[in-house]
Parts: sequence; structure tokens; C-alpha cells
Amino acid sequence: MAGSTILYLTKADVLECLPPVERRLELADYAMASLANGNCLMPPKPELMTRVEPEGAFHALPAFFRDRDIAGCKWSCTFAANPPRGLPSVSALIILSDPDTGFPLCVMDGTLVTAHRTAAVSGVSIKRMAPRRVGKVAIWGAGFQARTHLEVLCATIPGFPLWVYDSDAARLEDYAAWAGEQAGVSEVHKGGSVAETLQGADVAITATTVHNPGDPYVVPGMLGTDCLLLPLEWNLQVPASTAKEASLFLVDDRAEFTYYRDQADRLAMVAFKDYPDPHETIGEAVARCLSRETRPDGLIVSCALGTGAADVSAASEVYQNARKRAVGTTLAL
Ligand SMILES: NC(=O)c1ccc[n+]([C@@H]2O[C@H](COP(=O)([O-])OP(=O)(O)OC[C@H]3O[C@@H](n4cnc5c(N)ncnc54)[C@H](O)[C@@H]3O)[C@@H](O)[C@H]2O)c1
Repeated sequence: MAGSTILYLTKADVLECLPPVERRLELADYAMASLANGNCLMPPKPELMTRVEPEGAFHALPAFFRDRDIAGCKWSCTFAANPPRGLPSVSALIILSDPDTGFPLCVMDGTLVTAHRTAAVSGVSIKRMAPRRVGKVAIWGAGFQARTHLEVLCATIPGFPLWVYDSDAARLEDYAAWAGEQAGVSEVHKGGSVAETLQGADVAITATTVHNPGDPYVVPGMLGTDCLLLPLEWNLQVPASTAKEASLFLVDDRAEFTYYRDQADRLAMVAFKDYPDPHETIGEAVARCLSRETRPDGLIVSCALGTGAADVSAASEVYQNARKRAVGTTLAL
């Protein structure tokens, strides 16, 4: 009976039901456009900090899409101290609910959806805002996001030389070997430092978890003139001055960005409070059909803080695939 059971999807189930990369990019386009045109209802995600050092944070990311009757929420945790414990820094669960009755329909592991939807949202920017000629892609931090992002880079701007840097030598080695096997990557270089890795990059992605003593902050002079810079960890490696110097500074959701910037002191994200107002959102750039041909010259900084909209649109497709393929375990409520 409706409302008496839920479908439970493990990480392996989610992997089996993940849509292909092209479809993930479409879902991310839809999520970003829906945020911009009001089709998606999404309050800024509340944050609960557990400790100051080492940092741990919980977020709740709800979203509701009016045109497709999709409602859901992700409970997400980011713990920078996890990698040395042999654990990923990000963990998450997603609940999807029936918009007619409010009852839960599905609970699924959210780590894969998080990793893939984040890369897909970056893909929305890469497709439209990478410079016309990409002679170098740089990734700082060779973890999970670096892998999902490489798949998206290969799908959107194939044929690029990749430079990658990680402070963990074993991770860097593993990642470089894996990256070298991906069709779409023309060559792989292991950077000896952050500065060497980012120098002259046309697309640069920062996907780290801590600012190590001695790490430089990413400033425009380090990058290619028309670089597309995608900082995944907010203001950790990219100072406000860089966003201020950009010819275009975008965020995924204006209300969420402002909410966090207003609370920068409370959240100990001091550098964040100096960030400028975004010129536009990624969804607004989609709506005005910004393209690699029409993008402005100069540095573009596209900062996606991570939205429930992107999670729920991707998770809903996973759920529908699971239903069609009879994947998952039905549990009583
Ligand atoms: N914006 C979003 O929507 C979103 C979503 C998910 C994750 N994130 C963020 O992306 C970042 C990466 O996530 P992940 O899942 O890939 O994490 P991960 O733990 O799998 O990988 C991080 C990698 O970065 C390396 N690293 C950390 N700090 C470094 C430094 N200062 N210099 C060099 N290497 C460094 C680690 O050794 C590790 O290999 C995290 O900060 C996470 O919070 C953002």
C-alpha cells in the first residue's frame, strides 16, 4: 500500500542506476535553469558545525520541482579529517518523497549522487564557459571529485592535457595512472607543486579539503588569461580578490550564496564575507544561452556551493531507473 514501504538503494544500487554522463549533464542543466526561473523551490541549506578543529559540518539540502512533482532532501556531512582515517570526506543520504501524500518513497546512499551531480554542475559551466582553445586542464586535489570531474571534462572538452597535484603522493600516483587510461585525456602530468600545476591553466578545478601551510591562494596571474576556474570548496583556496577580478563571477544559487556570505563570521569562513555579488547564476547563463563563442574574455570564476536542486533532480532519475529495473530493497515503514 502507498505510504507503507520505501525503496532502499545502497551505493551499489545507485551505481547500477546512475544515468550516463550525457544525461547527468542534462539533469544538471535542468536543475540550474529551474533555480534561476523559479521552477525549483529551495531554501538555503542550514549548516551545523560540529567542531572548529578538525572541521566537521552537517547540511540539509531540500528541493522541490514544481513541473515534475519531485521532492526530496539530502543529509550531507563533510569531515575534512576523514581522509587520514581512510574515509572519504563527504558522506550523504537522500530521501525522496511523494509530493501528493508527503510520504517517503525512497532512501538512497547520497555519496555517488553528490560526487556525480557536482561534476555535472561543473560540466554546465565547462560546456559554456571554457575558453575556445583548451591547452591545459589543471586539477588541485586528486580525490573522488577529481575522478567524477575528469569524466565530465572528457565528455565536454575531450583531447586536453591534464595537470594534477595532490599533497598525498600515493593518491597522486594512483590518480595519474587512472587518468592516463581515460579516453579524452591527451597526456597526464603530475605537478610538483600547486603553482606549477595551475600555471597557465585554461580550466582549473580546486577539489581539496584543507589549506596546507605553504599552499598559495589561487590568483589570476597563476592561471591562463581566459581561464575558467571552478572552486569546489568555496573560498578555501580562492580568495575574494580573485572573484573580484573575474570578468564573470557566477554561483549556483544567489540566495544560498548570500546566506553563507552573511554568516561568514559565525561559520569561521572569514575570507568569504569579502566575496563580491555574483554577476549571474549558472542557471541565468544557461537561460541566456552563454556559449564558449560568446563568453567574455578574461577569467571566469564559477562557484557552485552545491544545491539540493542538483541532488534531487539526479536522485529522482536514479529512483526511476531503479523502479524500471527492479533494483533495490523494499522496506516497511
Ligand atoms: N561544491 C560542491 O557541490 C561540493 C560537493 C562535494 C564535495 N565538495 C568539496 O570538494 C572537495 C573535494 O571532495 P572529494 O570528495 O574529492 O574529497 P576527497 O577527500 O575524496 O579528496 C580530496 C583530495 O584532496 C587532497 N588534498 C586535500 N587538501 C589538499 C591540499 N591542500 N593540497 C593538495 N592536495 C590536497 C587529498 O589528499 C585528497 O586526495 C571537498 O572540499 C568537498 O567538500 C564540494
